[in-house]
Amino acid sequence: MSEAEGVEQQAARRRTFAIISHPDAGKTTLTEKFLLYSGAVVEAGAVKARAGRRAARSDWMELERQRGISVSSTALQFGYRDHVVNLLDTPGHRDFSEDTYRVLAAADSAVMVLDAAKGVEPQTRKLFEVCRSRNLPVITFLNKLDRPGRDPLELLDEINEQIGLEPTPVTWPVGIPGDFRGVLDRRDGTMVRYDRAARGASEASEERLTPEQAALAFGPAWDAAVEGSALLDEVGASFDPKRFLAGDASPLFVGSALTNFGVRHLLDAVVDLAPEPAPAVDADGHPRALETPFSGFVFKIQANMNPAHRDHVAFVRVCSGHFERGMVLTHGPTGRPFATKYAASMFGSERNTVDDAWPGDVIGLVNAGDLSVGDSLYQSSPVAFPPIPTFAPELVATVHPRDLSRSKQFRRGLEQLEREGVIQVLHRLGGDPNPVLAAVGQMQFEVFAHRMDHELGAPVELGPAQERTVRRTDAATVPGLRDAGGVELLERRDGTILAVFPSPYWLERLIADHPDWTLEAIVNS
Ligand code: G4P
Repeated sequence: MSEAEGVEQQAARRRTFAIISHPDAGKTTLTEKFLLYSGAVVEAGAVKARAGRRAARSDWMELERQRGISVSSTALQFGYRDHVVNLLDTPGHRDFSEDTYRVLAAADSAVMVLDAAKGVEPQTRKLFEVCRSRNLPVITFLNKLDRPGRDPLELLDEINEQIGLEPTPVTWPVGIPGDFRGVLDRRDGTMVRYDRAARGASEASEERLTPEQAALAFGPAWDAAVEGSALLDEVGASFDPKRFLAGDASPLFVGSALTNFGVRHLLDAVVDLAPEPAPAVDADGHPRALETPFSGFVFKIQANMNPAHRDHVAFVRVCSGHFERGMVLTHGPTGRPFATKYAASMFGSERNTVDDAWPGDVIGLVNAGDLSVGDSLYQSSPVAFPPIPTFAPELVATVHPRDLSRSKQFRRGLEQLEREGVIQVLHRLGGDPNPVLAAVGQMQFEVFAHRMDHELGAPVELGPAQERTVRRTDAATVPGLRDAGGVELLERRDGTILAVFPSPYWLERLIADHPDWTLEAIVNS
C-alpha cells in the first residue's frame, strides 16, 4: 500500500466529534459510557473517579484544579468497531470559555445531548450556533428517559422551533419517560428491549423483538410507539443523510446514559452516519487533499500554570498527511521549523506520547510557547487555514497594571495572552489607551489575572466582569451607532470593531430600525 492510500484508509476510519450540551444534561456520563462500550475502560466510573481523585489531591490552587478539569479531556481517543473515535471536549460549567467554541472548529460532527425533562437549554443553543455557522452535522441524543420527563413529540417541536434544526428520530421510545422499556428502531420496525444494569456499570442487556413479540410483551406501550412513529412518517421526519450532512436535519436517538439504554445505538450512529475527515479548505478556499504531506492547525493552547511544570501545549487538529513524532514541521505564520519530539495525546489528565497521527486526530505539542490559536503547521507544502470563528464576547471588564513600574511587562503579557486566545484585548475607538478585556466565560478572567501575576510578572487590577451584548460591526455602521447613543465601540488588534450594547433590547431595537447595519454575533467566520 502506498503512503497516500494509507492516509486515506486511516482517515476513513476516523470519526472526530464533540458533545454539545447544557451542564447536567449528561455529557460526562455519556462520555464514560462511550468508553465502556468501546472497551477503553472496563467499568464505568473511571472518568468521574479521576475527577474525584483530582479533587481530593491537595491542590496548590483552586484554579489549577479547575484548569485540570478542562485539560483532562481535550481529546479522548478510543477504538470502536475497527474505527478510531476522537471525542473532543467542550468544557462547560465554570470552565466555559472561548476554547469551548474553538474546539468545534476541530470537529467533523457533534452529538447534541438534551435532558428530556428540560429540552433545549441556553448553552446548547450557543454551541449549536457555532455548529450551524460551520454546517456541522449534528446527531441528537434525548437523554434521561429513565426519569419522568416531557413528551418526546413536544421536544421535537422545541428543537425545530428554537434552533431551526429538524430532528429525524431513528429510534423512538417504547413506554413513557420514567417508564421506559426500550426503543422502536424506525429503520426496520423492530424493538430493542433494555434491561437495567446496576447504575449502568456494565453494558445494558439488549434484546431484539419482532413487532409481534413487542406487541405481545408491551401491548399499549408498543402500540403508542408505533403510532408515534407513524405520525413522524406522515410529517416526513425520517432520516435523510443529505440533510444531515448539510447540517439541516439531525438523526435523533433516545435513551438514558445512566442506565446505558441507547448508548450503543448512538455510538454506532457516530461510526455509521457521522462523516469521516474531509479535505480541509485552506484560507484561499482550496481543499487540501488528505494525502498531501502533513498539515494541521492549532485550535487550543493550554498553559500549565503549575510553576514546577511550566509549559504550553498546543492542540493541533491533523488535516492532512501522516504525522510521525520527531518530524520537523514548518510553523505557517513565521516559516520557522518546529520540532515535534514531544508530542502527546491525552487520556484523562494523563499525557501519553503519540507516535503517529492521521487526519481527524488531535495531537498535543509540548513546548509550544510560540504558537497561536489558528496557526498552521505543515510539512513541505505550505498552507494557511482560515481563522477559527470566534463568538461575540458576553462579558467585559476593565484592566490596569497594579504596579505602574511594570507597564512594559503588562503590555507584553496582554499581547501574549491575547495571542494564546486566553482573552480578547480591546481598545476604545477614539483614543483611550486603557484596554478592555472581553470573554465568554468568567473563568477566562481568572486565568488571565492569575497568569499575569504568577507567570508574566505584571499583577493586574480587574474591574468587575459586566454582562453585555456584543456584536461585530464595521466602519460604515460606526457613525450610526455613535448617533444612536448608549453603544460603546471597541477595536481588536486585527481591526475588528465590536459594538457593546447595554442590553439585548437596545440591540434588537437598533436592528429593527436599521436592518442594513452590520451587527453580527460571530466575529470572524
Ligand atoms: P454533564 O457532564 O453534562 O454536566 O452531566 P453529568 O454527566 O455529570 O450528569 C449530570 C447528572 O445527571 C448526574 O447526576 C448524572 O448521574 C445524571 N444523569 C446523567 N445521565 C442520566 C440519565 O440518563 N438518567 C438519569 N436519571 N440521570 C442521569 P448527579 O446527581 O449530579 O451526579 P451523580 O451523583 O449521579 O454522579
